[in-house]
Amino acid sequence: MTKAVLGIIGGSGVYNLPGLEDMREERIASPWGEPSDTLRIGRIGQTKVVFLPRHGRGHFYSPSDINYRANIDVLKRAGVTDLISVSACGSLRAEFYPGFFVLVDQFVDRTFRRETSFFGRGCAAHVPMAHPVGPKLQQRIADAASAEDIPFHQGGTYVCIEGPQFSTYAESMTYKGLGYDVIGMTAMPEAKLAREAEITYATVAMVTDFDCWHPEHDDVDVAAVVAVAQQNASKVAGLIARIARDFPAEHEPCPNRSDRALDGAIMTAPSV
Ligand code: ADE
Repeated sequence: MTKAVLGIIGGSGVYNLPGLEDMREERIASPWGEPSDTLRIGRIGQTKVVFLPRHGRGHFYSPSDINYRANIDVLKRAGVTDLISVSACGSLRAEFYPGFFVLVDQFVDRTFRRETSFFGRGCAAHVPMAHPVGPKLQQRIADAASAEDIPFHQGGTYVCIEGPQFSTYAESMTYKGLGYDVIGMTAMPEAKLAREAEITYATVAMVTDFDCWHPEHDDVDVAAVVAVAQQNASKVAGLIARIARDFPAEHEPCPNRSDRALDGAIMTAPSV
């Protein structure tokens, strides 16, 4: 049995976690370089919680400049077994409006200038990514969102673009036409790296805008994203607090085997 430790990655507008008790800040060194910030480690109820703001406090890191490997590595070193990432996103569906939360379960990775793996330097590994989100962890988020009266949808596809520019109208229409539900810049390669680190992962995609496809809404800009993200901060805090309070003491084995992802994944022969 493994003791459950809940990790939270905060996105735009989520730079701290109110309600974190007995909090201490810890700087954990990583061979992968500098993480976005120090870890804030504490507890909510009986659950150990580790918080990391993805962009750093003060929002210093653009999506392409975040050291995703160092972030996942330090969370792993802090003992995180289950990781909830909070990401601002644009909506590609009329019914997902700003303020709405989408508990996505699929990702499409359109990024092209990020380090996407811990493997490859003398050690080849290929982890399964068919089902990137832990269903039990996602169900806990859904239950907490219902209890907190947060409007949400369970399931959906998040397309992750490189940025930093928002999409063109043609791109936005293409993603929408392909059936993707939300668009953001940060969930990849985070989800891939969490899988390689055998951390169960789920994303709360907080809709901040309608990107630029919607004929009756303005094209996305930073002011809109920040305004909605700030309005959502207290909802996020309430959601996380409830999830943490109800979290089991032991990590629940993931039906998608995210916590056993390296079993059979390493191709390189063991050295003798
Ligand atoms: N983050 C928030 N809104 C976004 C959008 N429309 N596109 C990409 N990333 C986003």
